[in-house]
Amino acid sequence: MTRFATGAEPSGAAAERGAGHDEQSVSQAVQSMFDGIAPRYDVLNHVLSVNVDSIWWRRTARLFAPVLQNPEAAVLDMCCGTGDMTLALLRHRPLNARPVVALDFSHAMLERAKGKFSSPEFCPHGVVTMEADALHMPLSDNSIDLITAAFGFRNLANYEAGLREMARVLRPGAPLGILDFNEPGGLFGKVYNLYFRHVLPRLGKALSGSSAPYAYLPHSVHRFPKPEEMLAMMRSCGFVQATWTPYTFGIAGLYRAVKA
Ligand SMILES: C[S@@+](CC[C@H](N)C(=O)[O-])C[C@H]1O[C@@H](n2cnc3c(N)ncnc32)[C@H](O)[C@@H]1O
Repeated sequence: MTRFATGAEPSGAAAERGAGHDEQSVSQAVQSMFDGIAPRYDVLNHVLSVNVDSIWWRRTARLFAPVLQNPEAAVLDMCCGTGDMTLALLRHRPLNARPVVALDFSHAMLERAKGKFSSPEFCPHGVVTMEADALHMPLSDNSIDLITAAFGFRNLANYEAGLREMARVLRPGAPLGILDFNEPGGLFGKVYNLYFRHVLPRLGKALSGSSAPYAYLPHSVHRFPKPEEMLAMMRSCGFVQATWTPYTFGIAGLYRAVKA
């Protein structure tokens, strides 16, 4: 039987393992980690990814343009953080479209997103922010026409529960896009993984002043199910047509599927 990591394991929650490591302690550790790095998140992200992340968000949004261009489509950007994936989606929305729902459980990340969403460039399209846990979304069954999740799914306390929750709220036949990091293979992978595991955490610590989030990042990517495992999990959680497309030599990649 295929075995995959059941969910994220941030150091705060791992430390509580002896006292009962559970999904709630994982979620709380993830939430407080993002609340803590929110003020520096965007700058560090752009520096450490050399702005390639913007290409990934835009490429992902373009793939879902046919859904986004339907003004009636209900669109959810899950784990929206400071809102850059949401903004990439908004570029494809018509002026009279329903607002995109941008959901995250980190108040501080969401506050920064709200600042971006209120820019006159995006106001007419509209976004509704929702401070909520992706594992228990206050959304009706079969109500959403598209879900995206960029670099957030990997942080969920329970991946299967996350996929099942997404399947619950999506309408049958509606697409899902999960953009996240991957560990590339081959010679390139060896060099990149050296940077990702050893250089990036030091750089992140030097620039942000805190070591935990940038030690957690490569650790979480290493633990995250590999593409074939992730695709199997998606199929077992109610999705069909599951595919993975590597981005930038497989540093990241997009999982796509539709609800059966
Ligand atoms: C790495 S950030 C990514 C933000 C944004 N999507 C981007 O592409 O930059 C991950 C986000 O996922 C959010 N997150 C993680 N677990 C979550 C959960 N269970 N419910 C809601 N948000 C969650 C965090 O608060 C954080 O803002």
